[in-house]
Amino acid sequence: MRGLRAGGVLDYVVPARLPIMSRPLNMVFTVCHTAWPSRTPIPGCAARRLPPTSRMGVMKATYLEPAVGQYLLAHATQPDALLDELARETREVTHHRATMQISPDQGPFLTMIAQLSRAVNAVEVGTFTGYSSICLARGLAPGGRLTCFDVSEEWTAIARRYWERAGLADRIRLVIGPAAESLRGFPATPPIDLAFIDADKAAYPVYYELIMERLAPGGVILVDNTLRDGTVADPTADDPDTRAMRAFNDKVMNDPRVTSLILPIADGLTMIRKN
Ligand SMILES: C[S@@+](CC[C@H](N)C(=O)[O-])C[C@H]1O[C@@H](n2cnc3c(N)ncnc32)[C@H](O)[C@@H]1O
Repeated sequence: MRGLRAGGVLDYVVPARLPIMSRPLNMVFTVCHTAWPSRTPIPGCAARRLPPTSRMGVMKATYLEPAVGQYLLAHATQPDALLDELARETREVTHHRATMQISPDQGPFLTMIAQLSRAVNAVEVGTFTGYSSICLARGLAPGGRLTCFDVSEEWTAIARRYWERAGLADRIRLVIGPAAESLRGFPATPPIDLAFIDADKAAYPVYYELIMERLAPGGVILVDNTLRDGTVADPTADDPDTRAMRAFNDKVMNDPRVTSLILPIADGLTMIRKN
Protein backbone atom coordinates (compact mmCIF):
# COMPACT_ATOMS: atom_id res chain seq x y z
CA MET A 1 0.00 0.00 0.00
CA ARG A 2 2.91 2.35 0.75
CA GLY A 3 3.74 2.63 -2.95
CA LEU A 4 0.31 3.75 -4.11
CA ARG A 5 -0.23 7.31 -5.25
CA ALA A 6 -2.51 9.54 -3.17
CA GLY A 7 -6.05 8.27 -3.60
CA GLY A 8 -4.78 4.96 -4.99
CA VAL A 9 -6.71 1.78 -4.27
CA LEU A 10 -5.23 -1.64 -3.57
CA ASP A 11 -7.78 -3.79 -5.38
CA TYR A 12 -6.08 -7.12 -6.04
CA VAL A 13 -2.95 -8.83 -4.77
CA VAL A 14 -0.98 -11.75 -6.24
CA PRO A 15 1.98 -13.38 -4.42
CA ALA A 16 4.50 -10.59 -5.08
CA ARG A 17 3.61 -6.98 -5.61
CA LEU A 18 5.93 -4.19 -6.68
CA PRO A 19 4.38 -0.92 -5.49
CA ILE A 20 7.35 1.16 -6.62
CA MET A 21 6.27 2.38 -10.03
CA SER A 22 4.11 5.36 -10.85
CA ARG A 23 1.36 2.78 -11.45
CA PRO A 24 0.97 -0.35 -9.31
CA LEU A 25 2.27 -3.50 -10.94
CA ASN A 26 1.53 -7.13 -10.08
CA MET A 27 4.07 -9.89 -10.74
CA VAL A 28 4.51 -13.55 -9.83
CA PHE A 29 7.89 -15.28 -9.84
CA THR A 30 8.76 -18.95 -9.44
CA VAL A 31 12.39 -19.71 -8.57
CA CYS A 32 14.05 -23.12 -8.59
CA HIS A 33 17.81 -23.43 -8.25
CA THR A 34 20.38 -25.43 -10.15
CA ALA A 35 23.94 -24.62 -11.18
CA TRP A 36 25.25 -23.96 -14.70
CA PRO A 37 29.04 -24.19 -14.51
CA SER A 38 29.98 -22.03 -17.50
CA ARG A 39 32.01 -18.91 -16.85
CA THR A 40 34.61 -17.50 -19.23
CA PRO A 41 35.90 -14.27 -17.71
CA ILE A 42 36.27 -11.27 -20.02
CA PRO A 43 37.98 -8.35 -18.27
CA GLY A 44 35.35 -5.92 -17.10
CA CYS A 45 32.40 -7.68 -18.67
CA ALA A 46 30.15 -10.65 -18.08
CA ALA A 47 30.49 -12.59 -21.34
CA ARG A 48 30.26 -16.34 -20.86
CA ARG A 49 30.36 -19.53 -22.85
CA LEU A 50 27.00 -19.92 -24.51
CA PRO A 51 24.50 -21.60 -22.16
CA PRO A 52 21.60 -23.56 -23.67
CA THR A 53 19.85 -21.74 -26.49
CA SER A 54 16.55 -22.25 -28.18
CA ARG A 55 14.40 -20.47 -30.70
CA MET A 56 13.81 -17.93 -27.91
CA GLY A 57 17.52 -17.15 -27.46
CA VAL A 58 20.13 -17.59 -24.75
CA MET A 59 18.90 -18.74 -21.34
CA LYS A 60 20.72 -16.54 -18.85
CA ALA A 61 18.86 -17.52 -15.70
CA THR A 62 21.33 -20.37 -15.16
CA TYR A 63 20.29 -20.73 -11.51
CA LEU A 64 16.87 -21.96 -12.68
CA GLU A 65 15.97 -25.40 -13.94
CA PRO A 66 16.64 -25.11 -17.70
CA ALA A 67 13.04 -26.07 -18.52
CA VAL A 68 11.74 -23.26 -16.31
CA GLY A 69 14.16 -20.77 -17.85
CA GLN A 70 13.07 -21.76 -21.35
CA TYR A 71 9.43 -21.52 -20.31
CA LEU A 72 9.99 -17.97 -19.08
CA LEU A 73 11.70 -17.03 -22.35
CA ALA A 74 8.82 -18.56 -24.31
CA HIS A 75 6.22 -16.64 -22.32
CA ALA A 76 7.63 -13.15 -22.64
CA THR A 77 6.64 -10.92 -25.54
CA GLN A 78 8.90 -12.06 -28.34
CA PRO A 79 11.48 -9.77 -30.00
CA ASP A 80 10.47 -8.24 -33.30
CA ALA A 81 12.33 -8.94 -36.56
CA LEU A 82 14.74 -6.03 -36.02
CA LEU A 83 15.84 -7.19 -32.56
CA ASP A 84 16.15 -10.77 -33.85
CA GLU A 85 18.38 -9.54 -36.66
CA LEU A 86 20.48 -7.49 -34.23
CA ALA A 87 20.91 -10.53 -31.96
CA ARG A 88 21.93 -12.64 -34.96
CA GLU A 89 24.44 -10.08 -36.25
CA THR A 90 25.85 -9.65 -32.73
CA ARG A 91 26.47 -13.42 -32.50
CA GLU A 92 28.11 -13.47 -35.94
CA VAL A 93 30.36 -10.47 -35.26
CA THR A 94 31.20 -10.77 -31.58
CA HIS A 95 31.00 -14.57 -31.12
CA HIS A 96 30.98 -15.59 -27.42
CA ARG A 97 30.81 -11.93 -26.36
CA ALA A 98 27.23 -11.95 -27.66
CA THR A 99 26.23 -13.31 -24.25
CA MET A 100 26.81 -9.79 -22.93
CA GLN A 101 23.59 -8.78 -24.69
CA ILE A 102 20.51 -8.76 -22.46
CA SER A 103 18.30 -11.81 -22.87
CA PRO A 104 15.11 -11.60 -24.94
CA ASP A 105 12.83 -11.55 -21.88
CA GLN A 106 14.66 -8.53 -20.48
CA GLY A 107 13.73 -6.54 -23.58
CA PRO A 108 10.00 -6.19 -22.89
CA PHE A 109 10.78 -5.64 -19.21
CA LEU A 110 13.01 -2.64 -20.00
CA THR A 111 10.42 -1.25 -22.39
CA MET A 112 7.64 -1.64 -19.81
CA ILE A 113 9.66 -0.03 -17.02
CA ALA A 114 10.43 2.93 -19.28
CA GLN A 115 6.72 3.21 -20.09
CA LEU A 116 5.48 2.75 -16.52
CA SER A 117 7.96 5.24 -15.10
CA ARG A 118 7.07 7.68 -17.90
CA ALA A 119 10.78 8.27 -18.35
CA VAL A 120 11.87 11.32 -20.30
CA ASN A 121 15.54 11.53 -19.36
CA ALA A 122 17.15 8.07 -19.35
CA VAL A 123 20.74 6.83 -19.31
CA GLU A 124 22.37 3.51 -20.08
CA VAL A 125 25.83 2.49 -18.88
CA GLY A 126 27.04 -0.29 -21.19
CA THR A 127 25.46 -0.31 -24.65
CA PHE A 128 27.43 -2.91 -26.62
CA THR A 129 25.61 -3.48 -29.95
CA GLY A 130 22.45 -1.69 -28.87
CA TYR A 131 19.81 -4.30 -27.96
CA SER A 132 18.92 -2.94 -24.51
CA SER A 133 19.10 0.67 -25.68
CA ILE A 134 16.47 -0.01 -28.36
CA CYS A 135 14.20 -1.63 -25.77
CA LEU A 136 14.61 1.29 -23.37
CA ALA A 137 14.21 3.99 -26.03
CA ARG A 138 11.03 2.39 -27.34
CA GLY A 139 9.39 2.90 -23.94
CA LEU A 140 10.34 6.54 -23.38
CA ALA A 141 7.67 9.19 -23.03
CA PRO A 142 7.13 11.56 -25.97
CA GLY A 143 10.16 13.85 -26.28
CA GLY A 144 12.21 11.40 -24.21
CA ARG A 145 15.93 10.95 -24.64
CA LEU A 146 18.33 8.13 -23.84
CA THR A 147 22.03 8.86 -23.30
CA CYS A 148 24.23 5.80 -23.79
CA PHE A 149 27.72 5.44 -22.31
CA ASP A 150 30.23 2.93 -23.67
CA VAL A 151 33.95 2.69 -24.36
CA SER A 152 33.69 0.72 -27.60
CA GLU A 153 33.46 2.55 -30.94
CA GLU A 154 33.45 -0.81 -32.70
CA TRP A 155 30.48 -2.39 -30.93
CA THR A 156 28.43 0.79 -30.74
CA ALA A 157 28.86 1.30 -34.52
CA ILE A 158 26.50 -1.66 -34.83
CA ALA A 159 24.14 -0.03 -32.32
CA ARG A 160 24.09 3.20 -34.33
CA ARG A 161 23.00 1.33 -37.48
CA TYR A 162 20.15 -0.36 -35.65
CA TRP A 163 19.04 2.90 -33.96
CA GLU A 164 18.66 4.36 -37.46
CA ARG A 165 16.71 1.36 -38.67
CA ALA A 166 14.49 1.39 -35.57
CA GLY A 167 13.69 5.08 -36.14
CA LEU A 168 15.26 5.92 -32.77
CA ALA A 169 18.41 7.78 -33.83
CA ASP A 170 16.94 11.14 -32.82
CA ARG A 171 16.11 9.83 -29.30
CA ILE A 172 19.48 8.28 -28.48
CA ARG A 173 22.78 10.05 -27.83
CA LEU A 174 26.02 8.07 -27.54
CA VAL A 175 28.92 9.17 -25.35
CA ILE A 176 32.14 7.23 -25.96
CA GLY A 177 34.61 6.97 -23.08
CA PRO A 178 34.90 5.54 -19.58
CA ALA A 179 31.41 5.84 -18.16
CA ALA A 180 32.47 7.12 -14.74
CA GLU A 181 34.19 10.11 -16.35
CA SER A 182 31.28 10.71 -18.72
CA LEU A 183 28.76 10.52 -15.86
CA ARG A 184 30.77 13.02 -13.79
CA GLY A 185 30.28 15.48 -16.65
CA PHE A 186 26.60 14.62 -17.08
CA PRO A 187 24.25 17.42 -15.95
CA ALA A 188 22.15 16.98 -12.79
CA THR A 189 19.28 18.88 -14.40
CA PRO A 190 17.00 17.79 -15.81
CA PRO A 191 17.20 14.87 -13.37
CA ILE A 192 17.51 11.32 -14.62
CA ASP A 193 14.21 9.39 -14.57
CA LEU A 194 15.52 5.96 -15.49
CA ALA A 195 18.98 4.36 -15.61
CA PHE A 196 20.16 0.95 -16.76
CA ILE A 197 23.60 -0.19 -15.56
CA ASP A 198 25.13 -3.08 -17.53
CA ALA A 199 28.88 -2.48 -17.89
CA ASP A 200 32.10 -3.37 -16.00
CA LYS A 201 30.83 -4.89 -12.78
CA ALA A 202 33.64 -3.65 -10.52
CA ALA A 203 32.56 -0.07 -11.15
CA TYR A 204 28.89 -0.63 -10.26
CA PRO A 205 29.18 1.21 -6.90
CA VAL A 206 30.69 4.22 -8.70
CA TYR A 207 28.00 4.29 -11.39
CA TYR A 208 25.32 3.85 -8.73
CA GLU A 209 26.49 6.88 -6.73
CA LEU A 210 26.99 9.09 -9.79
CA ILE A 211 23.50 8.24 -11.03
CA MET A 212 21.91 8.59 -7.58
CA GLU A 213 23.25 12.16 -7.36
CA ARG A 214 21.42 12.94 -10.59
CA LEU A 215 18.31 10.78 -10.14
CA ALA A 216 14.86 12.33 -9.72
CA PRO A 217 12.86 11.42 -6.59
CA GLY A 218 10.84 8.40 -7.74
CA GLY A 219 13.45 7.71 -10.43
CA VAL A 220 14.40 4.11 -11.16
CA ILE A 221 17.76 2.38 -11.58
CA LEU A 222 17.96 -1.11 -13.08
CA VAL A 223 21.20 -3.03 -12.60
CA ASP A 224 22.03 -6.19 -14.56
CA ASN A 225 23.88 -9.39 -13.57
CA THR A 226 23.43 -8.94 -9.82
CA LEU A 227 22.94 -12.68 -9.19
CA ARG A 228 26.10 -13.69 -11.11
CA ASP A 229 24.70 -17.12 -12.04
CA GLY A 230 23.44 -17.44 -8.47
CA THR A 231 26.98 -17.46 -7.02
CA VAL A 232 26.16 -14.49 -4.74
CA ALA A 233 23.95 -16.86 -2.75
CA ASP A 234 26.44 -19.75 -2.75
CA PRO A 235 28.43 -19.73 0.51
CA THR A 236 31.24 -21.75 -1.15
CA ALA A 237 31.76 -19.10 -3.88
CA ASP A 238 34.54 -16.75 -2.83
CA ASP A 239 36.02 -15.31 -6.03
CA PRO A 240 36.69 -11.54 -6.21
CA ASP A 241 33.84 -10.86 -8.69
CA THR A 242 31.28 -12.63 -6.53
CA ARG A 243 32.52 -10.83 -3.41
CA ALA A 244 32.31 -7.50 -5.25
CA MET A 245 28.74 -8.17 -6.41
CA ARG A 246 27.70 -9.23 -2.91
CA ALA A 247 29.16 -5.99 -1.56
CA PHE A 248 27.23 -4.01 -4.18
CA ASN A 249 23.98 -5.86 -3.41
CA ASP A 250 24.49 -5.23 0.33
CA LYS A 251 25.20 -1.56 -0.31
CA VAL A 252 21.94 -1.13 -2.25
CA MET A 253 19.90 -3.14 0.26
CA ASN A 254 21.20 -1.00 3.15
CA ASP A 255 20.81 2.34 1.35
CA PRO A 256 18.09 4.33 3.18
CA ARG A 257 17.63 6.55 0.10
CA VAL A 258 16.01 3.77 -1.91
CA THR A 259 13.51 0.93 -2.12
CA SER A 260 15.00 -2.07 -3.95
CA LEU A 261 14.87 -5.75 -4.75
CA ILE A 262 16.67 -8.24 -6.96
CA LEU A 263 14.42 -9.77 -9.59
CA PRO A 264 15.24 -13.30 -10.78
CA ILE A 265 15.16 -12.25 -14.42
CA ALA A 266 18.05 -13.43 -16.62
CA ASP A 267 21.30 -13.13 -14.58
CA GLY A 268 19.54 -11.12 -11.86
CA LEU A 269 18.17 -7.63 -12.38
CA THR A 270 18.09 -5.26 -9.42
CA MET A 271 15.34 -2.69 -9.42
CA ILE A 272 15.87 0.42 -7.35
CA ARG A 273 13.55 3.37 -6.75
CA LYS A 274 14.81 6.58 -5.17
CA ASN A 275 12.50 7.46 -2.31
C1 LIG B 1 27.31 -6.35 -20.90
S1 LIG B 1 27.75 -5.30 -22.21
C2 LIG B 1 26.31 -4.31 -22.41
C3 LIG B 1 25.22 -5.06 -23.12
C4 LIG B 1 24.08 -4.19 -23.57
N1 LIG B 1 23.39 -3.61 -22.44
C5 LIG B 1 23.14 -4.99 -24.44
O1 LIG B 1 22.09 -5.41 -23.96
O2 LIG B 1 23.46 -5.27 -25.60
C6 LIG B 1 28.88 -4.23 -21.41
C7 LIG B 1 29.33 -3.03 -22.20
O3 LIG B 1 30.02 -2.18 -21.28
C8 LIG B 1 31.06 -1.53 -21.95
N2 LIG B 1 32.02 -1.09 -20.96
C9 LIG B 1 32.92 -1.83 -20.25
N3 LIG B 1 33.64 -1.06 -19.44
C10 LIG B 1 33.20 0.21 -19.61
C11 LIG B 1 33.53 1.47 -19.03
N4 LIG B 1 34.48 1.59 -18.11
N5 LIG B 1 32.85 2.55 -19.44
C12 LIG B 1 31.86 2.45 -20.38
N6 LIG B 1 31.51 1.30 -20.95
C13 LIG B 1 32.15 0.18 -20.57
C14 LIG B 1 31.58 -2.58 -22.93
O4 LIG B 1 32.23 -1.95 -24.02
C15 LIG B 1 30.31 -3.31 -23.33
O5 LIG B 1 29.81 -2.80 -24.54
